Amino acid sequence: MSAMNEDLTDFHTHILPGMDDGAKDLEESKRMLEALKQQNVRTVCLTPHFYPYKETQEAFLERRQEAFSPIQPYAGENGIRLVLASETFFNDYLFRSEDILPLCMKDGEGKYYLLTEMPFDSAFSDRTVNRISKLMDTYSVTPVLAHIERYPKLVNDKKLINRLIDLGCLMQINLSAFQKGFLLKTKLLRYIRENMVHVVGTDAHNTEKRPPEYSVGISVIRKSLGEDAVLQLSRNAQQIVAGCLI
Ligand SMILES: [Fe+2]
Repeated sequence: MSAMNEDLTDFHTHILPGMDDGAKDLEESKRMLEALKQQNVRTVCLTPHFYPYKETQEAFLERRQEAFSPIQPYAGENGIRLVLASETFFNDYLFRSEDILPLCMKDGEGKYYLLTEMPFDSAFSDRTVNRISKLMDTYSVTPVLAHIERYPKLVNDKKLINRLIDLGCLMQINLSAFQKGFLLKTKLLRYIRENMVHVVGTDAHNTEKRPPEYSVGISVIRKSLGEDAVLQLSRNAQQIVAGCLI
């Protein structure tokens, strides 16, 4: 096993207990962290859903802190570094916040990154692209678009992905996508090879139906593109969270 494997990062998880539709209690959270550890994941980003139209940011952050407190010592004892962030739903309600930086990840240079969930029916129209641009200008954040493979309008439009990257966005995919058919797998591998995918995660919600399955997807990437591709994805993730590791 290469040294590299010691530092894998799961960029997208719903492990915080009782926080959203993810882990239901502390025991399940611990099992999910343990499963990731078994797969050599040493950094876990906690990214609970935040829906700005459902609750205030203050209420969300308070709930997040409560859910985080009991999980932190367990992670520490097990050599897992945590990142406390969010998967924030993108719509106009988000712009009501004065300051969205507490929802974000932070790199070593103090730059902020928001794991951004687009509406699944988004047409990714010019208006949407302009709104994403406005988000960046208003709050000085870099959107990391979550699980881009789940948006047909986006994942099948290479030009659009590149337009968003040129704008300053980053792209995240779920590793489970590599188990969902040859065409999608081939497309995502090409995107990784062309640096159009920047980070990967399990988007794990529980131990059964949406488990923390990291290694199968990573093995596909490693086998098809080589260790360097895995190394690059890991470096990208480590860079984004360098300023907010707990
Ligand atoms: Fe998610």
